[in-house]
Amino acid sequence: MRNLAILVLSSLLSMSAMAADVDAGKAKSGMCAACHGADGVSFAPMYPNLKGQKAAYLEKQLKDFKSGTRKDPVMGAMAMPLSDEDITNISAYYAGLK
Ligand code: HEC
Repeated sequence: MRNLAILVLSSLLSMSAMAADVDAGKAKSGMCAACHGADGVSFAPMYPNLKGQKAAYLEKQLKDFKSGTRKDPVMGAMAMPLSDEDITNISAYYAGLK
């Protein structure tokens, strides 16, 4: 029982540290590619490029879309189902593309 408590506690702690998982971010970026391009460079002027953008900036924009602080009907809907962890991972993935 005590071991279980320690296990739960340590996994909670490691979650709050939230090291970005680039592979998980890549896996989650499939639907983003439809507009932002498979490698984060979009094919249409109205869709911004994400490749090589700063992770902290991407993360803030996605959280702002999700909360409605930044308003865009399309991106609001895209960001809605993403968890904070997804957002961290996806941002790290696009930031890391060269
Ligand atoms: C249907 C098309 C579409 C899809 C799919 C889509 N986006 Fe977007 N995205 C847009 C548009 C359009 C904008 C510009 C919004 C604006 O004008 O504010 C945008 C903007 C953004 C921005 C802000 C970029 C900047 O430079 O400020 C980020 C970050 C972003 N999208 C990430 C994503 C991610 C991550 C996904 C997948 C979960 C995704 N988008 C899926 C259309 C899309």
